[in-house]
Amino acid sequence: MLKTVICDLFGIKYPIIQGGMAYLGTAELVSAVSNAGGLGIIGAGNSEPDWVREQIRLTRQLTDKPFGVNIMLLSPFTEQVVDVVLEEKVAVVTTGAGNPGCRRFETCTAYTQSHSPLPTFSSGSTFGSRVSRRSDERKITC
Ligand SMILES: Cc1cc2nc3c(=O)[nH]c(=O)nc-3n(C[C@H](O)[C@H](O)[C@H](O)COP(=O)(O)O)c2cc1C
Repeated sequence: MLKTVICDLFGIKYPIIQGGMAYLGTAELVSAVSNAGGLGIIGAGNSEPDWVREQIRLTRQLTDKPFGVNIMLLSPFTEQVVDVVLEEKVAVVTTGAGNPGCRRFETCTAYTQSHSPLPTFSSGSTFGSRVSRRSDERKITC
């Protein structure tokens, strides 16, 4: 079975990372992906921080496998969601819908890198990947 460095890094069976999906990346889907051996990702989208916290806790009831949270950088709640992710000690974060070179992204990165042992950020866009790679080598870009 295919095994790559991604498996070791995230502690998953298969090198498959769920795309961040607002409205669809709920605890049910995320836990199903993680239980199947991939890395499930909660889609924070524009949701309020309390919803994200609820989904994180529900996911933990549904799986003991690793999972992450996708933070949408254009959300009005981005920074509160980052706080939730840190408080809940979610180790993997992906970002989308925003320029990861912007100040808000850098704030998020600083938060997560000071709290997580993992290089946590990825980007859904080629442009974002380029910016991420330039600004910090510890970020994973894809
Ligand atoms: C319904 C839907 C919702 C999505 N919501 C998000 C989102 O909240 N955050 C994000 O980073 N990307 C979001 N995406 C983008 C996907 O995560 C992914 O990057 C995109 O579909 C391209 O993936 P592909 O290159 O594998 O097709 C969404 C995609 C879909 C289809």
